[in-house]
Amino acid sequence: MNLLSLWPRARRKTSPGGDAQRDEKLLSSLFLLAWAVEARDPYTGGHLWRVARLSRLLAQAAGLDAGQVARIAIGAFLHDLGKIGIPDAVLGKKSKLDDAEYEVIKTHPEIGLRMLAGHPLAALAEDAVLLHHETPDGRGYPFGRRGEEIPLVARIVGICDAFDAMTSTRPYRAGMPIARAMGIIESELGRQFDARLGALFIALADNPELAHIVGHSDEGIPLERCGACGPIVVRPRQAQAGDTLYCPACHSEYTIAPAGGLLATGKQNTARALAASPDTSLIGRLVGENLTALG
Ligand SMILES: [Fe+2]
Repeated sequence: MNLLSLWPRARRKTSPGGDAQRDEKLLSSLFLLAWAVEARDPYTGGHLWRVARLSRLLAQAAGLDAGQVARIAIGAFLHDLGKIGIPDAVLGKKSKLDDAEYEVIKTHPEIGLRMLAGHPLAALAEDAVLLHHETPDGRGYPFGRRGEEIPLVARIVGICDAFDAMTSTRPYRAGMPIARAMGIIESELGRQFDARLGALFIALADNPELAHIVGHSDEGIPLERCGACGPIVVRPRQAQAGDTLYCPACHSEYTIAPAGGLLATGKQNTARALAASPDTSLIGRLVGENLTALG
């Protein structure tokens, strides 16, 4: 597929670097947009990477071709884009959300769609962003669509997003083991989750790749948790022994031990902890992987 076909003719400009360079820049800008969510939400460490990898795995298990798999992985990485527009008090709340707060959270698919509008590659991610909380039983949001009225990408991302939420630790509960999360998916087949895709996902339970994804925040970067409050402290690929990292939720300071792993320093630092930056090596890798498949 030519990426340019997703770009309305009126907006096309010739880029001096040629098509490949232009496509690479466009896809990077889409991923950077998604990264802003990762930077703002203290409880999602590596969530976008995991949901994108899980969605890729499920799309492959469903027998889709490389181009479709890449589109699904891109949609999965972008799916929670609209959370940028959710107030901190709701997004970073340490206890369970009440009904009014849940209503606020439910606006994120439409916020995400508005944020995508105007991006030349919006069509690659629109269905995942707007429809990943629709459920086959019609009880999802924002529209209450049913069954196959929900596009394939949104049904895949819906399963992988829920699975990652269940297996991730939140301030008010520990992440559950893979087998228990799979049991919940099984009990909701045909209701919260697409029956055929959900069954394919459950069949991945013993796949070593799935276990690898659950335990990591990026390729080769194991999950590290804040010893003081629980959420994931993401260690960027370029970080080295002796570098300092901060818990995104309670701002506790850690240094990276020579053998890997985090050592608490006992200090807290709000200003540096809040200074998030995008993981450009992860974004560059995602662009490379998916651009080839889309081309
Ligand atoms: Fe979401």
